[in-house]
Amino acid sequence: MLASLLLAAFFFPVHLVKGQIPSELLSPLGPQKILAAERARPNLRWPQYTNAGGQWLWFDSGAWTSGFFPATHYALNSRRIQCGANDRNGLNIADWRALGINSSRGLPLDASKVGHDVGFISFPFVEELALNPNDATAIRSINSLASALAGRFSERVGCTRSWDTSDPTQFTVIIDNMMNLELLFASARLTGNQNLRNIAVRHADTTMANHIRADGGSWHVIDYNSTSGNVIRKRTAQGYSDSSTWTRGQSWGIYGFANMYRLTGDVKYLDTARRMARFFINNLPSDGVVPWDFNAPLNPTRPADSSAAALVANALLLIARQETDQGQIKYWTDNAIRILNSITRVAWKANWQSLLSNGTVHKPQNNQNTGTVYGDYYYLLAGNELIRRQLVSCP
Ligand code: GLY
Repeated sequence: MLASLLLAAFFFPVHLVKGQIPSELLSPLGPQKILAAERARPNLRWPQYTNAGGQWLWFDSGAWTSGFFPATHYALNSRRIQCGANDRNGLNIADWRALGINSSRGLPLDASKVGHDVGFISFPFVEELALNPNDATAIRSINSLASALAGRFSERVGCTRSWDTSDPTQFTVIIDNMMNLELLFASARLTGNQNLRNIAVRHADTTMANHIRADGGSWHVIDYNSTSGNVIRKRTAQGYSDSSTWTRGQSWGIYGFANMYRLTGDVKYLDTARRMARFFINNLPSDGVVPWDFNAPLNPTRPADSSAAALVANALLLIARQETDQGQIKYWTDNAIRILNSITRVAWKANWQSLLSNGTVHKPQNNQNTGTVYGDYYYLLAGNELIRRQLVSCP
């Protein structure tokens, strides 16, 4: 009995109580800041990250992040559906769905304009389709983005290509692209084209075979030979070193594999998500603040990455949603809440335009300590999921 209690204390170090969920997740300041940014947004520009003073920098539609801001409006629309709108939750100040539709206008859709990160661009259209399954713009956009992605698939490699390279035999794939696969399923449902679903499964299987280390960590980048399909090199681009684990990449992987389980029911994807998630949790520092790379040296101080923290919290909650064992549900949920608490403590910035600071966009390019549009998006989504699970009440 004592042994099992001790074991439980070891595996469930955080006791889940409603009061431990940071109130900032549901603060009216969130919607207020998003609306202020929408009003300040220049025509056909979208926020991506902030400067060191917390002011948004604006990017054109070619940026990989342009879909996140419209998707954030849809996240607030979902919260309004969950909670209603009042002064305490700040959701009364806008028609979030209308803003989502409006700020989706001008997103790139065809193969000549989009690169590989199309899943992120598709987010607002997937949201609109869920609200209105006949929406012609959403249907056209999803099908167009999926077809652009399918055009990057190599039967020989078993993946869609990430960056274009000057040497056509070099076929580069980043773990981030696990986030594209839901788009292929969405388009397969709309069109009946099962080839899109098959591409998603092949991409996930090849990524599972080559990107994930035996200990559950991951490589950011795999270079394949496009003729033979063989792996040429395993390396990083945004992480600390070729043998390190870049936390945002790890988080994209956890989310992507947990989502593949949701989409296919194939338990090997859930097992991979769990393995990567355990690695993530076991490598967190004692304060729970997600560093930008688990293997980056501690001196000088290694920056955090609030975007990886907000993203992985959602990934853990997505695993929790699909577990049946109560202990496992609690384990993933507790760790998600612990990570959200830690990042809120260091990165919630009332006087910044973004919700969070301490994002690491690209450390090797010295782009860190910023707000990020994707970190804010996943932070709000985590709040929605905790409301849905009735772990926190709407303000
Ligand atoms: N996909 C780019 C990033 O996570 O930075």
